[in-house]
Amino acid sequence: MKAMDQIVQTIQQTAHYVNTNLPNHAQSRVSVNASGDKQTDADVWADHLFFDKLSALDAVGSYVSEERDAAIDCGEGYVVTIDPLDGSSNLASNNSVGTIVGVYEAELPATGRELCAAMMVLYGPYTTMTVARDDREIVQEYLLRDGFSERWGEFSLPDDPKVIGLAGKKYARSEGFNELAKELEQHLKPRYGGATVADLAQVLEYGGLFGYPATTEYPDGKLRVYYEAVPLAYLVEEIGGRSTDGTQSLLDVEPDGLHARTPTFLGNEDLIERVEAHMGDGS
Ligand code: AHG
Ligand code: MN
Ligand code: MN
Repeated sequence: MKAMDQIVQTIQQTAHYVNTNLPNHAQSRVSVNASGDKQTDADVWADHLFFDKLSALDAVGSYVSEERDAAIDCGEGYVVTIDPLDGSSNLASNNSVGTIVGVYEAELPATGRELCAAMMVLYGPYTTMTVARDDREIVQEYLLRDGFSERWGEFSLPDDPKVIGLAGKKYARSEGFNELAKELEQHLKPRYGGATVADLAQVLEYGGLFGYPATTEYPDGKLRVYYEAVPLAYLVEEIGGRSTDGTQSLLDVEPDGLHARTPTFLGNEDLIERVEAHMGDGS
């Protein structure tokens, strides 16, 4: 089997197992680990599952996880970055969570221009997996069910945006950003749930904008370049949407370390242009 097919299939199978067994982690509460990061036992559980399956593949040379301080060397092969359980604080309220994966042929540090595939899994009322690969024309969506993954459709972004999901408390965001948010929210339905994959899924279904800006709590934004922002930007840009950190595509961000963060905006082109025009004013 082709190396990339091995990786895609392994993520599909492991994601199905995660989906089936998530109820065992229903009581998983957020705690803070030694390095000051929020972590639940579900995060650690999911990280171990993906590590065990991916590191065993000939196709994988390095496993780089949001839940680990350093990359784990697994031999020759692709570098895989992963947020094993995105939005794990949503487990307490029984809302959706996800998994985000990036695949690089190059060693890290690298920009998103070096990605050769990106994937996201959404554990909602049903589980879907979206895969963008540089060796495929279309971005494929799969439905994961009963241990099987069915081709479900081609991923796309509607032209006429309907929803907006913006993170951050108003007092913690810049005045300029609040002005932009107020303007955009006149015409777009607010949809923010606190799990990037789930929030982005709404934007991709209905068209719109997802954003996690810089805040006083997170001056560089909260989302991680390697584990969240860049792979999701790759998926969105592959289907004709755009991404920005405020001034440039997220695919051009040069991360300062494995756990670097970035302001993150994903969605329809005209909305990303509005964000960039506003940020360009210095606001
Ligand atoms: P993770 O659970 O992997 O640490 O990611 C959480 C991230 C992201 O998915 C979500 O959009 C954001 O944190 C939610 O943050 P707020 O609670 O600040 O809205
Ligand atoms: Mn996350
Ligand atoms: Mn996570």
